[in-house]
Amino acid sequence: MKLRPAAVLAAFAAAAVLSAATVPARARNGMVVSQNFLATQAGIEALWDGGNAVDAAVATAFALAVTHPAAGNVGGGGFLLYRPPKGEAAAYDFRETAPAGASATMFLRDGKYDPERHHNGYLSVGVPGTVAGLHMAWKAHGKLPWRRLLGPAITLAREGFMVTDGLARSLKEVLADMKSYPASIAQFSRAGQPYEMGDVLKQPDLARTLERIADKGPAGFYEGETAALVEKEMKAHGGLVTRADLAAYRAVRRAPVRGTYRGYEVLSMPPISSGGAALVEMLNVLEGYDLKERGFGGAAAVHVVAEAMRRAFADRARYMGDPAFNPGLAAVVERLTSKEYAQELRRTIRDDRASKSSPGAFSWPAESAQTTHVSVVDDARGAASLTYTLEEGYGAKIVVPGAGFLLNDEMGDFNAGPGLTDDKGLIGTEPNLAAPGKRMLSSMTPAILSRDGELFMVVGSPGGRTIINTVLLTILNVVDFGMNVQQAIDAPRFHHQWLPDRIQYERFGLSPDTAALLRAKGHELRETDTQGVAQAIVYDAKNKVLEGGCDRRAPDGAAIGR
Ligand code: GLY
Repeated sequence: MKLRPAAVLAAFAAAAVLSAATVPARARNGMVVSQNFLATQAGIEALWDGGNAVDAAVATAFALAVTHPAAGNVGGGGFLLYRPPKGEAAAYDFRETAPAGASATMFLRDGKYDPERHHNGYLSVGVPGTVAGLHMAWKAHGKLPWRRLLGPAITLAREGFMVTDGLARSLKEVLADMKSYPASIAQFSRAGQPYEMGDVLKQPDLARTLERIADKGPAGFYEGETAALVEKEMKAHGGLVTRADLAAYRAVRRAPVRGTYRGYEVLSMPPISSGGAALVEMLNVLEGYDLKERGFGGAAAVHVVAEAMRRAFADRARYMGDPAFNPGLAAVVERLTSKEYAQELRRTIRDDRASKSSPGAFSWPAESAQTTHVSVVDDARGAASLTYTLEEGYGAKIVVPGAGFLLNDEMGDFNAGPGLTDDKGLIGTEPNLAAPGKRMLSSMTPAILSRDGELFMVVGSPGGRTIINTVLLTILNVVDFGMNVQQAIDAPRFHHQWLPDRIQYERFGLSPDTAALLRAKGHELRETDTQGVAQAIVYDAKNKVLEGGCDRRAPDGAAIGR
C-alpha cells in the first residue's frame, strides 16, 4: 500500500486532527494513539479499511519498527492485550526468550560480573518475539489480510520518510554507541554524518525483511533468509542466537490478570510481566482510601499512593519471574491481586509516617526507560493495548547486516547471576536468572478498563519499572480525580519502587509545601526529569465519544480518530 502523500504531510502537525471531510464515511469511529504520527496514521487507515483494533495495533507496530527505531521493532518483544466487543479478552505474550546456549552465569567473565555482557553487545540479545506475537494475535482476531497490515511499514521503509527534529536528535545521540556496528551506521546515518530534520530516511534492507514477513508470515522472519542473516551475525561475533532458537520461538496466549477498581473491571498483563499483578495490587490497596477527598497532588494522596507502590514493588521483587520456570506463581498472583491481601497491606500503612523499605538481601538492577505503547479502540469498541520494546533505546544498537532491523538487548532484564545481590543495584535472586528458553521479567503494563460490560479506558507507557506507576497514576487521574484523558497524561508523575527507599518525582511535580509535608512524614524525595510516555484512550459511553491522550513528554506522537 502506498501512503497517501497528503496524509503524510497532514500528519506532520504534531497532534494531527483530521477534518471529517478527510475521514472515509464508512468508518468514522475508532482511534489510534502511538508515539509516532506516521505509525498512528498506518493504524487508523487499517481501521478505515474495515480492520479491527488488533489489525490497527499490528499495522501501527510494524510502522513504528520503521519510523520509531528507538523502540518500535521486529527484533524485540512485548505484549498485546485485546478486549473484543464480545467474548473473552486475551493477553498475547511475545516476550523475548533466552537462547539455548544461555546460562545463569553467562554474564560473568572470569567469575566476575560483567555489565557489558549483560547489557551490551551480542550476549545481551534475546530471541525476538514481536513477529510471532503480532501474527498470533492477528490470526486469532484480525479481519484484514496480513500483507495489508505490513503495507504502510514496507512503503515507509522502502520509499523513506522525512526525519523529524525528534528523530534527528535521537539518532545523533545514539550514533557513537553504534560505531562498532557498520550496518547500524550505514542504516542510521549519511555515511557517518547524522541525519538532519527534513532528510529522508530509507531502510531498504528492512523493507525486504518486512516483505518476507508479509509474504510468509513468521516463517519470513524465524526461518529462511532472515534467520540465516541473524545466525551469521551472531556466529561472527560470539552471540548465542541460532537458527534453531529462532525456529523454536513461540508466542503464548495467556489469560489476562483481572481486578476491579471502584466499579471498573481492570485487565492487564500476567507474568512474565510483573506489571498487571502490581497494578491490580496497588489499585486494591488504594480503593480503601478516598483519594479525591485527599486531593490531587496533595501530600495525603501522594503519601498513600507511594505506600501502595512500595508494597507492590517489594512483592514484585520477591515473587516475579517466568511462570514456566516458577511453579506456584499463578497462586501467588491470585493472592497478591486479592482484596483480602490489600486489606492486610492497608493495615501496615500509617497516615502520619512513611514505612521503611527493608532491603534484606535485595536491591534493584538498572532497567532501561525505552519502550513504546500503542492504544487502539475500533468502531465496535474492541480495544487493543500493546506495549513492546527493544529494552534500551535502539536495543543492542546492532542492525543485522542485510536484514535491516535492530536487535534487542533484553537479556539485560534477567538478573545478573546467582547470588550476586549487592547494595549497588545488582540482583542475583533465583526466579529471574537466565536459562535456555526462559523469558526475562518485564514491567510492561498494557491495561484496559471497562464498566458494566462497556469499554472505558485503554492505557500503557514505556519507562522500565516506572511503567507500572505511570499506568497507575493515569488511571487514578481519570477515575479518582475526574481529569480528562489529556489532563491525566499531562499531570506530573511520581514513582516509588521499594528500593531505593524514596519518591522520585518529575521536575516541578511537587510544590515546596507538599514536598515539606512528605519529608515530615519521613519520605526521601528526589527530583527527576520526565517519567514515561503514556498513550491512552477513554470512551465516553454517554456521549459515544472517544477521547485520545498522547503524551507530550516525547515528540512525534499523535492521537487520530474519534
Ligand atoms: N524492557 C522493559 C520491560 O520489559 O519492562
